[in-house]
Amino acid sequence: MIIAIDGPAGTGKGTISKLIADRLGFGNIDTGAMYRAVTLKILREKIPLDDLESIQKLLENTRLSFNEDEEILLDGENVSHLIRTQEINRVVSQVSAIRFIREKLVLEQRNFAKGRDIVMEGRDITTVVFPDADLKIYLTADVEERAQRRYKEMLDKGVSTTYQEVLEGIKERDYQDMHKEYGALMIAPDAIVVDTTGKSIEEVYNEVTNYIKREEN
Ligand code: DC
Repeated sequence: MIIAIDGPAGTGKGTISKLIADRLGFGNIDTGAMYRAVTLKILREKIPLDDLESIQKLLENTRLSFNEDEEILLDGENVSHLIRTQEINRVVSQVSAIRFIREKLVLEQRNFAKGRDIVMEGRDITTVVFPDADLKIYLTADVEERAQRRYKEMLDKGVSTTYQEVLEGIKERDYQDMHKEYGALMIAPDAIVVDTTGKSIEEVYNEVTNYIKREEN
């Protein structure tokens, strides 16, 4: 069974996907982590984002995988903590808009899911990666609430930032994610839209689980 979850930043996709996967014994793939890991490598190698030839070469020599805890490995290195920085937040949308990067990662995402029960989350899972997924969920929430959640996450991690900065960052990323030429964030016609505004994780989990049960029957 494939459960595909899309939605903008800060809607709780990561938390909900992980919870569903853990409780159902499914695999869980965070596709945003893959775009973030490629972004980290581009930044480390200091390649300008308009140098597509160098980015293409870098991609050919890049291996993405997940360890048994479903943390992302970049060329075998666990980078799961290094990819959640403001610096990466700022450029990852641009990197993920590059067509050949998307094409490669979409193929890898399909391969990771082969023969497994999986929850996969991202921006184009319900529309491009698995348009025939058994269940398609689009998570959404008010932008202010999403910014509050991200701001709190950042403070918990000891990152110095302001609510306003996080809010502006999320608005910018929403715009870029929704206006990409390829793989833009959109609601698949047959996706179930779940608004998480004002809801606890457990409430959202229960709502999504009810749809899964309906699908199983
Ligand atoms: O879910 P996230 O915030 O970690 O995703 C990071 C970025 O990667 C986000 O700005 C959009 C992009 N992304 C994408 O284009 N397609 C996906 N399937 C997942 C993420």
